[in-house]
This record gives sequence, C-alpha cells and structure tokens, in this order.
Amino acid sequence: MAFLELQAIRKKFGGLPAVDRVDLEVDEGEILALVGPNGAGKSTLLKAISGMQPATSGSIRFDGVELVGLQPHVVRRLGISMALQHPRVFDSMTVRENVMVAATFGGERRATEGEARSAADDAIEFVGLGPRADLPVAGLNLHQKRFLAMAGALVGAPRLLLLDEVMAGLNDAELDESIAMVRTARDERGLTVIWVEHVMKAVMSLAERVVVLNFGRLLADGTPAEVMTDEAVVEAYLGTTGAAP
Ligand SMILES: Nc1ncnc2c1ncn2[C@@H]1O[C@H](COP(=O)(O)OP(=O)(O)OP(=O)(O)O)[C@@H](O)[C@H]1O
Ligand SMILES: [Mg+2]
Repeated sequence: MAFLELQAIRKKFGGLPAVDRVDLEVDEGEILALVGPNGAGKSTLLKAISGMQPATSGSIRFDGVELVGLQPHVVRRLGISMALQHPRVFDSMTVRENVMVAATFGGERRATEGEARSAADDAIEFVGLGPRADLPVAGLNLHQKRFLAMAGALVGAPRLLLLDEVMAGLNDAELDESIAMVRTARDERGLTVIWVEHVMKAVMSLAERVVVLNFGRLLADGTPAEVMTDEAVVEAYLGTTGAAP
C-alpha cells in the first residue's frame, strides 16, 4: 500500500474538469514536484488532497485512510498540511501570532495558548524567522512571507507537506535557502513533500521525481531528466508558454 494513493481523481468546476481522472502513488519520504502549464490543475489537485476543494469523484487514500469527503481540518489532523499559492496572512499580527493561528487548526482538541505558542516557535525557528517572531508580518519581504507560509504548514508535525509555488519570485540565493529547507524537512523530520513549482532550476535540483499535469490530466511521471526530455512534455510547454521547461 502506497503512503498516498490517488485513484481516478476528478474535480469539476461547473461542467469542466480542472483535474481529470488522475492516478498517482507517492511513497513515504519522497520529494515529488508537480509541474505543468498555467491552469493545468496543479493547485486544484493539491486542494483536493487537503480537502479545501473536495474531489468530485475518485479516491484518495492516505496511509490507508480515505480522504475524499473529509473536512480540511480533519485531513490536517491526519497529518497533511498545505502552504497555499496565495496565502492569507494577517498583516497587523506578528509572525508568531500568524503561525499560532495555523497551530490551532486541526488539533485533536483546542490547543492551549502555551501549546500553540511552543509549536509555532518550533516551526518559526526551523524556517529561520526566529529573530522576527515578535514583528508584524507587514514588515516581511517576499522571501520571509514565503517562509512564514512554510512555518504555518510545518507547525504541528505534519507527515505530508503540500507546497504550492512557495519559491516563485525568489532570487538565486533565496531559492537555494528554500531548497535546502525543504530537503532538511524531509531528511530531519521525515516529511513527504508534494510540491508545485514553475521554477525549473529548483525542480531539477530538489525533486527526485516529477509529475506533469496538462489540462487536468497526468502527462508524464519520472525522474527530472526523463520528464524534461519527454516529447509530450516539451510540446505541452511550447504550446502554451513558448518556452521549454
Ligand atoms: N474555484 C474555481 N472555480 C472555477 N474554476 C476554477 C477554480 N479554481 C480553479 N479553476 C479552474 O481550474 C483550472 C485549473 O486551475 P488551477 O488553479 O488548479 O491551475 P494551476 O495548474 O495551479 O495553474 P497555475 O500554474 O496558474 O497556478 C483552471 O482552468 C482554472 O480556471
Ligand atoms: Mg496554481
């Protein structure tokens, strides 16, 4: 039994499938990149796993438990957390307060303030925002805001991390730092990572396996080198963005 197993997952908005009968198996400890042109259904697929946008049909089993039909906070409690492509942050609140909000979501019971604080501080330290824990989020730059989103996802010891474009817009040094952090999360915390990314440099250096979506369908699945030289993949990118991945 795979750690995570998707069977014929479909998500429709109105009549149109954004994700169309996707089958996917992910092993524990994998770092898997999910790539594809804009609108391919990547975010929708992650949200179907997290329960934020429930699948219309199909099955998602996580460590043997069926996730389709479960509320997002229940999925979170089972150990799946997500860093959103467009996170909502509370600008006037401090870094710690923001992560504490994430820490109280999906707990077995309502965490005490002390528990939420200590879980938040652990995640904040892990992403390197410790010195800024008491500062308002409004003062953070893009890179720090992305690390804040990662801290929110890492809080409370998840087992599967879903990351949606957490590296977009970063410079080379920031990118290297983010890549190292995700790798450390896997190596030291045993996390499994499914990570949507357009930044190919990051995909090539971090991912062990790459899955490509196109028009909601699974187009390719293999090592980064295999997938990036796959004719259908190159064509999908050429057809939509004018640039090879
Ligand atoms: N809430 C929604 N309501 C209606 N249609 C939606 C909704 N969310 C996504 N879609 C549509 O579903 C398709 C897939 O969108 P999705 O955001 O999953 O793509 P994506 O691969 O994440 O793209 P990007 O790389 O631009 O983030 C698109 O056609 C999009 O317009
Ligand atoms: Mg997206």
